[in-house]
Amino acid sequence: MSSLNAELEREDAVLELSGLRVRLGGRAVLQDIDLRVRPGEFVGVIGANGAGKTTLLKVILGLVRPDEGQVRIAGRDVRDARSLVGYVPQSFSPDPDLPLRARDLVALGLDGARWGFSLGGRQRRGRIDEALSWVDAERYADQPIGRLSGGELQRLLVAQALIAQPRMVLLDEPLANLDLRSQDDVVDLVGRVAHERGVTVVLVTHDMNPLLPVMDRILYLARGQAALGTVDEVVRGDVLSQLYGHHVDVVRVHGRILVVGGTDSESLTCSTCDG
Ligand SMILES: Nc1ncnc2c1ncn2[C@@H]1O[C@H](COP(=O)(O)OP(=O)(O)O)[C@@H](O)[C@H]1O
Ligand SMILES: [Mg+2]
Repeated sequence: MSSLNAELEREDAVLELSGLRVRLGGRAVLQDIDLRVRPGEFVGVIGANGAGKTTLLKVILGLVRPDEGQVRIAGRDVRDARSLVGYVPQSFSPDPDLPLRARDLVALGLDGARWGFSLGGRQRRGRIDEALSWVDAERYADQPIGRLSGGELQRLLVAQALIAQPRMVLLDEPLANLDLRSQDDVVDLVGRVAHERGVTVVLVTHDMNPLLPVMDRILYLARGQAALGTVDEVVRGDVLSQLYGHHVDVVRVHGRILVVGGTDSESLTCSTCDG
């Protein structure tokens, strides 16, 4: 590849991790992680509890410094890229009496942005209404958030992350505590964010199944190491047995994928069935 091509390729990556290593509390939490993510690509980060998923997001957000390796966002250092990244933290259950309306929650995403406070009242309201419409939340825009369902709340958090128009959104376990129907709705919404709006999505979850219809690639984490590729390339007995360091089986039933024997324990368990 010519150096010009290499340059173009590099610029084309919204997120680039190379040779990433993170140690926490004297333990290697992430080792040798390499990842390049394109504009509008949807990457699912899958792994059991403690696999290092949240740590990976914190590294991308610049909240955890890697011991080795590089993180570049649109070719920039993470510290110069804050405005390019939206973040949906692990969900929370607001107090039912919290006097915060849905639209106020979404507006918080505007106030974190550099230009958030400089918008006039009408412009500001327009931006908030627009973000509410992206996630089909107009209907409950003026309701207190403590009265909303988990799925409705999750949609608002996606709108909050999108309102400042980032190039990439990171979501940490956005499907936890949602019923299957709401999980599918949130996945469908986030899939459209990636594939129709061109925003790069990195979504963390312990169960890959809800993501199968939309995910372009999977980053499967176990023992601090990662396997990266399409689902067909990564979610295979040979690949995952190597990743886990012991034999696991990949079983497909009724359109679902189960990884059997995939935890670090000796027992036959399903690593992706619960968190
Ligand atoms: N600040 C920290 N200090 C020490 N160990 C940590 C710290 N944060 C996370 N860990 C450990 O790193 C591992 C990965 O954690 P985490 O990234 O939260 O996993 P996941 O999100 O996949 O459940 C766990 O073993 C966890 O205990
Ligand atoms: Mg986590």
